[in-house]
Amino acid sequence: PGRFGGSEEGRGKTIVIDYSSPNIAKPFHLGHLRSTVLGHAIRKLYESLGYKVIGVNHLGDWGTQFGFMLAAWQRWRQDAEARIARGEGEIDVFVSLYVRINQLAQEDPSVREEARSWFRRLEQGDREARSLWQYFVDRSKREFDRIYAILGIHHESDAGESFYEDKMQPGDPDKGGLGFPLILKSDGGTTYATRDLAAAFYRETTYHPERIVYVVGAPQTLHFKQLKKILELMGEPWHEKLVHVPFGQYIGMSTRQGNVVFLDEALTEGRRVATEAAESATKKQDLGPAEIAENARKIGAGAVKFFDLKNGRMKDIQLENNSAGKIDLSLITATKGETGPYVQFAYARLSGVLRNYGKEPTAAGVVFSLLGEPEANKVLKAIGEHPAKVRQALADFEPSIVARHLLDVADAVHSFLHVHRIMDSATEKVDPKVREARALLVGCARKVVGQCLDLLGIEPLEKM
Ligand code: ARG
Repeated sequence: PGRFGGSEEGRGKTIVIDYSSPNIAKPFHLGHLRSTVLGHAIRKLYESLGYKVIGVNHLGDWGTQFGFMLAAWQRWRQDAEARIARGEGEIDVFVSLYVRINQLAQEDPSVREEARSWFRRLEQGDREARSLWQYFVDRSKREFDRIYAILGIHHESDAGESFYEDKMQPGDPDKGGLGFPLILKSDGGTTYATRDLAAAFYRETTYHPERIVYVVGAPQTLHFKQLKKILELMGEPWHEKLVHVPFGQYIGMSTRQGNVVFLDEALTEGRRVATEAAESATKKQDLGPAEIAENARKIGAGAVKFFDLKNGRMKDIQLENNSAGKIDLSLITATKGETGPYVQFAYARLSGVLRNYGKEPTAAGVVFSLLGEPEANKVLKAIGEHPAKVRQALADFEPSIVARHLLDVADAVHSFLHVHRIMDSATEKVDPKVREARALLVGCARKVVGQCLDLLGIEPLEKM
């Protein structure tokens, strides 16, 4: 009894997906948000076909930039701590220190030397350097975890770049027509590419996966081509397993706002939508304050996810600013149109219809010819496409196929319910056999809508 559109073809097979992967002491920006949301949807697609998924958060927690961070912290620690104590965001403070130390290094070359020596200490496991670095890691992770909790996202592993520190052997790959990324610096230091090479080996030997998928923005396309080519030149047949899934970017707003502000504002807006929906329907709904608050989080997160996932992944996503210069969220959280609240509302509506019906619809004894109306046919057709849509979405790494399909099912069933009744009204009686057939149709539509929401990482709401 698997789910409709699911399969067992992936049974016994493992997929590694690298997604989200933000950088320590740097903002979690909208590119990371896209990677998080897309990567999560892709893992859901794999899971629905029976694969075991290892989600990896390849945190950017290593590299010479940490030498600069430590040098900056040593110089300006008091000032930084005072700013944090006054309520300034920790990551904002870290970023400003990093900018400041780099400016200083432009004027004063000894600062560069100082940073290099800090990084060397870090590499050598010096206690002071390690504990300062750990502080940045802990504080950054705390912020990332806050975001993941809102989004309902998790990883099986957060082996970041530093994890591979002791897993890097010198290599000597040839050119291969893609240029030559620096693998080992003259002073023995490693690079982003070295660490990705080590990570690929680790993933291959630890998990023996079918595929190693990287959900990372389009600007890193060359990096992943090089990575794959190097493995090929090293004679590793499993280089074939590497797949880079690139995506477009958010455009149309300043970078100042370009990070969590978007997420936080969408959540606030989601809260407003949820409260309003509950208030305007007090007769039909009996939602308590705790339920409303939980719905608010789900609606806000769902709005952000659907807004992202309804677009073909290579498309840039245009954000509009309103007259106050802030991101205009009305399109994202509207209850009508192609939005998260709309698809969640569809699920809540179908759930409500079935609550009124009062029992679990079943196919036993249903006279299917009673579903001959054109509106019913549309629903049946949309539902019937479900398994093929799921497969196509995974084959193309394109969750937007699920999102569009979800809109089709939701539209079709809304139109059906607009014209046809299930329960009697004061003026219209419904034949019990017709009621049974329609309830089954609604029950199936609800299942498909629920599965699509789940594939997109959007939490369903029974009541809204
Ligand atoms: N930390 C990188 C960035 O923010 C993304 C890492 C993606 N994953 C990888 N294995 N390179 O750009």
